[in-house]
Amino acid sequence: MAVIALKCPSIEVAVVDISTQRITAWNSDQLPIYEPGLDDVVKQCRGKNLFFSTDVEKHVSEADIIFVSVNTPTKTQGLGAGKAADLTYWESAARMIADVSKSDKIVVEKSTVPVKTAEAIEKILTHNSKGINFQILSNPEFLAEGTAISDLFHPDRVLIGGRETPEGEKAIKALKDVYAHWVPEEQIICTNLWSAELSKLAANAFLAQRISSVNAMSALCEATGADVSQVSHAVGKDTRIGPKFLNASVGFGGSCFQKDILNLVYICECNGLPEVANYWKQVIKINDYQKTRFVNRVVSSMFNTVSGKKIAILGFAFKKDTGDTRETPAIDVCKGLLGDKAQLSIYDPQVSEDQIQRDLSMKKFDWDHPIHLQPMSPTSIKQVRVVWDAYEATKDAHAICILTEWDEFKSLDYQKIYDNMQKPAFLFDGRNIADLEKLRQIGFIFRSIRFLG
Ligand code: UGA
Repeated sequence: MAVIALKCPSIEVAVVDISTQRITAWNSDQLPIYEPGLDDVVKQCRGKNLFFSTDVEKHVSEADIIFVSVNTPTKTQGLGAGKAADLTYWESAARMIADVSKSDKIVVEKSTVPVKTAEAIEKILTHNSKGINFQILSNPEFLAEGTAISDLFHPDRVLIGGRETPEGEKAIKALKDVYAHWVPEEQIICTNLWSAELSKLAANAFLAQRISSVNAMSALCEATGADVSQVSHAVGKDTRIGPKFLNASVGFGGSCFQKDILNLVYICECNGLPEVANYWKQVIKINDYQKTRFVNRVVSSMFNTVSGKKIAILGFAFKKDTGDTRETPAIDVCKGLLGDKAQLSIYDPQVSEDQIQRDLSMKKFDWDHPIHLQPMSPTSIKQVRVVWDAYEATKDAHAICILTEWDEFKSLDYQKIYDNMQKPAFLFDGRNIADLEKLRQIGFIFRSIRFLG
């Protein structure tokens, strides 16, 4: 919304949320999320044509176009638990819009939703409309965290789905005109509602599939002596495949990939397509396998026990340039190591101690068997220290695990780190960012997703 305000000075954008705390933060100098470049954009527009408010009803009733960006987490209970999207927030937003509207509105689905959600929302809106005309559009978002602002400035495409009726086409045109302020027309794709909704899930499933494919190859590389970086470089040179999104890692994380694929799996199951559902399930199974494989590697390399040993965890966020920890592979890796009684000392440049403690004590939801697993016991959490410096984290440690590819981890003084560690000093690189030759010269026992060593 901030980028729309920046690029369209003639449009007034009001961002509303029921959380006073969050809106206060958006109106302050300390924005509630870390995203490179966002501060600048907000500062340029806030108070001019970009406003943050808790007065939801007033702004909704005044708006011509309403973007609904409420969260749609995976259901944890009831029908479809573990896979289906929970649309509670979406439904209550739709009821509120119907309630307070006094003029015609275009309602835009921005949240990632299962295909056919627009139909349900349309029903709620029209059955409560009091004669008002609602047009519903699907306009899924393709930005990635950490690069959100540049992704929005130069999107590969903007996708708008709507009804194939004259009113639907008019609504599509109105939204297209907004993006046309800065996005070339040929990059704005207009489709029917269901294609737009499904394209979002499909795009994320394809992206995640690439990572699981290369991660599956990494296991085979280690068994055969091939180097997965060389393999993905060679494979990516084929222009039909392309070089992006082929970095082997400790596994993908984030709030989108797992949730969206599970949702896709559920939709396939509901449509009587178990083979298709199982195909996509494998993408998540390989991701879980990759995280387990990493933990097993650490434990087996360190003489089959990490009990009482200090292990430094460098990076906790699900990727660099964000403080977001949702579904980060670090949670599963840390829990695995804690399960083997390790002492963890964790450092991430953007994640707070509170967040890490919360993530490590929360219940893990098992997507394949919808039962709630027990949370870690409070004594396990005492095995965790969170520090604000990589040198502090690694002091007296037996091993280092790099779990997020923060740039600053590439330029650490590894000689100094090595000198202050227990020997033998192990380094497990879950992101293939460290300089193998240099680290081995210093004396580290080095393992990465690339090299078994
Ligand atoms: C993802 C998609 O990339 C966006 O296009 C989409 O809009 C977004 O989900 C969404 O649905 O909202 P995001 O989750 O922010 O974006 O981050 P990604 O850059 O896709 O990274 C996801 C995970 O994959 C991270 O843990 C990252 O470290 C990992 N990854 C990525 C790899 O392990 N290897 C790679 O080669 C690339």
